[in-house]
Amino acid sequence: MAGTPSQIFRIITLSSGHSRGSNLLAMHRHFHEQQLPVEIFRAVFTKATAPAIEHCTERGIPVEVISAKDMPGFEARLLSLVRDNSIDLIALCGFLKLLSADFLDTLGIPVLNIHPALLPNYGGKSMYGMAVHEAVYSNGEQYSGATVHRADAQYDHGAIVAQQRVDISSCLSAAEVAARVLQVEHQLYAQAIWGLLSGIS
Ligand code: GRF
Repeated sequence: MAGTPSQIFRIITLSSGHSRGSNLLAMHRHFHEQQLPVEIFRAVFTKATAPAIEHCTERGIPVEVISAKDMPGFEARLLSLVRDNSIDLIALCGFLKLLSADFLDTLGIPVLNIHPALLPNYGGKSMYGMAVHEAVYSNGEQYSGATVHRADAQYDHGAIVAQQRVDISSCLSAAEVAARVLQVEHQLYAQAIWGLLSGIS
């Protein structure tokens, strides 16, 4: 990793076209409030229409739009960004595409994802957005939670880096489960990223 105690760690976030960006904005706020030497060097979105772009711009987070219709082209541009700018880590924030195994191997830096459930349960290809919380709620689970894991070439599959359980037994809807889990995501993701960058975890 490029960072030393006197340097700033640089990360890139990746989000799909419908991203509301709450995790991205929460980690930006956390790094700032805790005065951690972590900079969101670029927030990459796959579509210029992503609602989160405006919020990033307001906060001075540099944004780049890279179409994911051509994934080899997407990965090539990302590789240049990482190599030319000594990027230390990539954080997926509502990114719905799979990155290829070759790309992840070549990259040589950690790529993390956050998933709004207790993996390995309630993960996989169609498990995103409210589908996760609806499945958890309709199964009558007492607990859900958030999981930060290494991204690999399968959905929601890589090694778990951090996980936090949330008691949802009093939730009366899947929307309530989602809201409770999201609050935890906002803390857990930033802490896990800092843990990895700083060598704490
Ligand atoms: C979050 O629930 C995260 O767990 C999942 O995608 C969602 C992104 O939400 N990977 P937001 O754009 O960060 O609000």
